[in-house]
Amino acid sequence: MGKDVIIACDFDSAAKTFAFLDRFTGRKPFVKIGMELYYAEGPEIVREIKRRGHKIFLDLKLHDIPNTVKKSMAVLSRLDVDMTNLHAAGTTRMMEAAIEGLTRPDGTRPMLIAVTQLTSTDQESMEKDLLIKEPIAEVVMHYAHNAKIAGLDGVVCSPLEAGKVHERCGSDFVTVTPGVRFADGDIGDQKRVMTPAEAKKIGSDYIVVGRPITAAEDPVAAYERCVAEFVD
Ligand code: C5P
Repeated sequence: MGKDVIIACDFDSAAKTFAFLDRFTGRKPFVKIGMELYYAEGPEIVREIKRRGHKIFLDLKLHDIPNTVKKSMAVLSRLDVDMTNLHAAGTTRMMEAAIEGLTRPDGTRPMLIAVTQLTSTDQESMEKDLLIKEPIAEVVMHYAHNAKIAGLDGVVCSPLEAGKVHERCGSDFVTVTPGVRFADGDIGDQKRVMTPAEAKKIGSDYIVVGRPITAAEDPVAAYERCVAEFVD
């Protein structure tokens, strides 16, 4: 499994997405399609980006009864994405059902990654709203462990958690980490950030980078800088 930089294509239309992707005339980046773009444009946006030669992380964070997730994952698998995800809070049984649905008749399937606790959830909201009393770091590790047991390939986590996830779940359990910023860049609304070079050192397998690339004056140069720091 190769380390890679995934660009978060957080655009609200196909036109904006292709205006952005058209700049990449050399190496075709791995791109993340989230709910905003998918709900705006539907599955055709996935097919078109795939046709252009990009790998795709479809970030739809499924969370429903196991049977519904299984059937929905079968549909996403047929879209030929390279990576997709779900909420580990949906239980181990839901995650197992997701793997079943995602697996194609020939035994292949996209990588499946779990979201543990969203970084927007803090200790207080977890205790008050969800009635989960354990320390959030333990909850994250427990959910990661459940994902591993269910047969998933890894988790989305903060780069700060990547080392611990590997300790608990093994070095081949993939960590996909957003919250990446250049040392001389804007942090924006992210709270806990790391540079691509730091994320590499701590053992992230994939970094998800949005605005430092999409809002850069020269997005291709910003992408190449991420690759140089993180992959090369
Ligand atoms: O623009 P920026 O680099 O902050 O984008 C990060 C991407 O990763 C966004 O698509 C965001 O939704 C996603 N993400 C995140 N933090 C999480 C999970 C996903 O920033 N915990």
